[in-house]
Amino acid sequence: MVIAIDGPAGSGKSTIAKLLAEKLDYTYINSGKLYRAITLGCLRSKIDITDSEKVIEYARNINIEYRKTDVFIKGENVTDLLHTDEIDKFSSPLSAIVPVRHIVNDLIHKLAEGQNAVVEGRDMTTVVFPDAKHRFYLDASADSRAKRRFDQGVSNLSLLEIKNAILQRDEIDKNKVEGSLKIAEGVQYLDTSDLTIVQVYEKLIESID
Ligand code: DC
Repeated sequence: MVIAIDGPAGSGKSTIAKLLAEKLDYTYINSGKLYRAITLGCLRSKIDITDSEKVIEYARNINIEYRKTDVFIKGENVTDLLHTDEIDKFSSPLSAIVPVRHIVNDLIHKLAEGQNAVVEGRDMTTVVFPDAKHRFYLDASADSRAKRRFDQGVSNLSLLEIKNAILQRDEIDKNKVEGSLKIAEGVQYLDTSDLTIVQVYEKLIESID
């Protein structure tokens, strides 16, 4: 069974998806981490993210693995390197490159094949697993999303700068040619702005049978 969760950055979906996967003993797949890992690899290889051809070639040949909650490139665990301001910035335009999306989607299908999985991202409920048994869209106001990111203490930006960066990424995410962020018909929508993690978890688990 697949549980698919989409939503904008900072909506709480990663925390919730991870928690659900742990409690249900499901495979956890965070698709954003795959886009982030490809971005990291490109930056390390000095590939210009606006050079689609080079990015696609790199993504085709990248040796990327997902083990539990961690992502590996050529055997190196890069998980802790994926949430810098730089990767935040460049993963958004990189993920707008359609062939890169196809590469990532194929990888996700392979990872989830024959598994019970919780998958999360921007197009899990629409493109990658439109027929998932349970589909959720988690949302939150830009202010609360920025505050969550700020409170993580991993960004060097001010609260206002974080909010502006989030709004900019929302624009790119919502206007992608393929896999754009949208509220699919039939998904369960939840605004998490004023909810704790436990409250969101309880609401989701209630509707999962
Ligand atoms: O969820 P995240 O912030 O870790 O995602 C990183 C980037 O990848 C973000 O710009 C959105 C993009 N992304 C996407 O386009 N499609 C997905 N399924 C997941 C993430």
